[in-house]
Amino acid sequence: MWSIVRSLSLASLISSACTVTAQLSFVASVKQHGKDVDASGLSFVRIPPLEHRWHASRPRRGQNNRTVERDAVSYSANWCGASQHASDSDGIKSVLGYFTAPDLTLRPGTPAPQFAAAWVGIDGAACNTTLLQAGVTTIVNSDGGQSASAWWEWYPEASYTISGLKVKAGEWMSVNITTKDASSAILVIENADTGTSVTLELNNGPQLCRRDAEWILEDFYESGKQVALANFADLWFVDSGATTVGGKNVGFDGATMVHLRDENGNVLCSPEPYDNSNFVVVSKP
Ligand SMILES: *[C@@H]1O[C@H](CO)[C@@H](O)[C@H](O)[C@H]1NC(C)=O
Ligand SMILES: *[C@@H]1O[C@H](CO)[C@@H](O)[C@H](O)[C@H]1NC(C)=O
Ligand SMILES: *[C@@H]1O[C@H](CO)[C@@H](O)[C@H](O)[C@H]1NC(C)=O
Repeated sequence: MWSIVRSLSLASLISSACTVTAQLSFVASVKQHGKDVDASGLSFVRIPPLEHRWHASRPRRGQNNRTVERDAVSYSANWCGASQHASDSDGIKSVLGYFTAPDLTLRPGTPAPQFAAAWVGIDGAACNTTLLQAGVTTIVNSDGGQSASAWWEWYPEASYTISGLKVKAGEWMSVNITTKDASSAILVIENADTGTSVTLELNNGPQLCRRDAEWILEDFYESGKQVALANFADLWFVDSGATTVGGKNVGFDGATMVHLRDENGNVLCSPEPYDNSNFVVVSKP
């Protein structure tokens, strides 16, 4: 029943629709510097859930509870960055982030290829059933060569590599996810350096809790195994924040700053606060 969506049959030249399950559906369009352009170069490569790029969104056992989540600092096996929480009486409506596509160098003593992903999303922390996210994964090979790809995912549905949205390591990206309700959203991912953006109208997705917003660098899982984390150039999230259903703007003040720690207790990556709308993620070689 499932098949890899290598290219879409286009409903029109500027937008294309695709029903990926009986439920989740999306319509995609492409803009260049804000103007609609031909979307025929756009395709989505479906990556089945749990086989590739499963963003195991939960910190380690014992750290996935409110007490720790709401502390200023927490440790995770795969996340590094900031997680902001909505108050109990409000919810996250939208999340916005500008960040650079991970720019990698090989981490000595670890086999190549090595990786890092950077993304912006809603839920996945206090809400552990779903996560709507978009970002960029970079791979660095043994010769130091890098390639980067943009993707989106509404976990636990499959994720999609957005071929046609070209990105290079170090280029500035923006992600804007705006929920309409708990199961529909408009997701815009843009390569700010080239001016190309892809807009996805998502409907009938897995029910969001709208509890958390995240800005994360991730050492993700592939085929059930965690990939080797590369070293990376300082990765800033700038002019970033979230809005709540109740109409508030929230930034990083009061967010949980999540450090990535490996199974031996070594910290491989730390977020460093700067101000309410900017922070930097730093590689710990
Ligand atoms: C939350 O996590 C901390 C740290 O691992 C642990 O000590 C505490 O017992 C946990 N609390 C609950 C309610 O699970
Ligand atoms: C998700 O959170 C619920 C409620 O806190 C908890 O009972 C459940 O064990 C968690 N599941 C996972 C996979 O962490
Ligand atoms: C984010 O996307 C929403 C929905 O498309 C739009 O209304 C809003 O203006 C965007 N925000 C920014 C900062 O671009």
